Amino acid sequence: MSLTDSDKEVVWHPFTQMKTADSPLAITRAKGALLYDENDRAYIDCNSSWWVNVHGHCHPHIGQAITQQFAQLDHVLLAGVTHPKVVELAEKVIHILPEGFSKVFYSDNGSTAVEVAIKMVMQYWYNHGIEKHRFLALDGAYHGDTFGAMSLGQRGYFNKPFESFFFEADFLEFPTAENHQETLEKAEQLFQTGEFAGVIVEPLVQGSAGMRMYDATWLNQLLAMAKKYNVLIIFDEIMTGWGRTGELFAMNRCNDTPDIVCLSKGLTGGVLPLGLTVAKQHIYNAFLDDDTLKALLHGHSFTGNPLACAAACASIELFEEPQTKENIEFICHAHGVFKAQLEAQDYPIKEIRQCGTILAIEVETGSESSYFSSIRVEAIRHFLAHGMLLRPLGNVIFLNPPYCIHEEELNTCYSAIEGFLQKVGASA
Ligand SMILES: Cc1ncc(COP(=O)(O)O)c(C=O)c1O
Repeated sequence: MSLTDSDKEVVWHPFTQMKTADSPLAITRAKGALLYDENDRAYIDCNSSWWVNVHGHCHPHIGQAITQQFAQLDHVLLAGVTHPKVVELAEKVIHILPEGFSKVFYSDNGSTAVEVAIKMVMQYWYNHGIEKHRFLALDGAYHGDTFGAMSLGQRGYFNKPFESFFFEADFLEFPTAENHQETLEKAEQLFQTGEFAGVIVEPLVQGSAGMRMYDATWLNQLLAMAKKYNVLIIFDEIMTGWGRTGELFAMNRCNDTPDIVCLSKGLTGGVLPLGLTVAKQHIYNAFLDDDTLKALLHGHSFTGNPLACAAACASIELFEEPQTKENIEFICHAHGVFKAQLEAQDYPIKEIRQCGTILAIEVETGSESSYFSSIRVEAIRHFLAHGMLLRPLGNVIFLNPPYCIHEEELNTCYSAIEGFLQKVGASA
């Protein structure tokens, strides 16, 4: 039996209609920006395996760090216990984030990092004895698949069956040049009620919504407003962190910083699951009391896992190397050149967007943009045939490759994208 046949017998895949989906690609090894299938055919990992694998696959520095850690300490609980790597990582993260963050809470993935942030905000007000129960998020938001994160995400798309179980939230129209002022006025009206506990955003780029981008000026104004009205602000940097926007964090492009930031995905170089919710001191202080019930009574079995912490420390060391910065700059530049090249052609494109190493092409299909656009499956097949694993967000084709991608690999991606656009154009 082939691996894909065996898979069909026992594996239930994420985000997949198992009845109609194509057989999964059987990947057996990986190196750098390449994934290899069971016949040793190579595929460029165009989206860094769900946007996590920032340094490329099987990086020796990260591998070595995990191996060394395994020889020393594989796992230990984090309640009432500490270990060197959990401290080292917290110190490293606080050091590389903009000034002001002081406490790191560990969890297992992006969704749990957001879940913790939401609980921190809720309990912050609870512990202060202040009634504030409303949350604000952006239309199109995606913060994960756990219930708190789903409650603050775009309703309807992926979560219809669960909607009646969500807590209430208000959603602000996605900011554009046209509604810039209007959306900020709306936020101000809401904040003026004094009922808002928190606001959450994916800073500068909404990932799952189709790599939708908005400018730092708007975000700066929202940040200032949240501070003015005493609404706690969470930046979900799970996708935008770790160099994706060209800066180490999207917030490096802002004038101010949020109260809480959520990190995951590229945190471990995409090698092991880990989530961090990093808070400023005033958040932490709200939980300090003689009363145990005022503590943040939240945790996971693998909280602060030493292997994941070792991988994350090694990944941060790689970010400190000039080569990583050069690689990021190279991708930013190459994307910019390709974007200009596409804009000069007459391809069926609604919009091309770029923020740092993320390049998104919203393909004109004649109907509204949607995750369920029929060209999605067509695109996946086209790119697989060209030796690329690229999963579009509906009719949005995008590249956010590992930073170690070679120039010729990137050029292969660009040519295959042009080929796909020609195909769509010809069939229109
Ligand atoms: C912005 C953002 N937040 C949260 C998440 C959830 O992370 P995870 O899939 O690790 O739970 C994602 C995942 O894509 C994301 O893009």
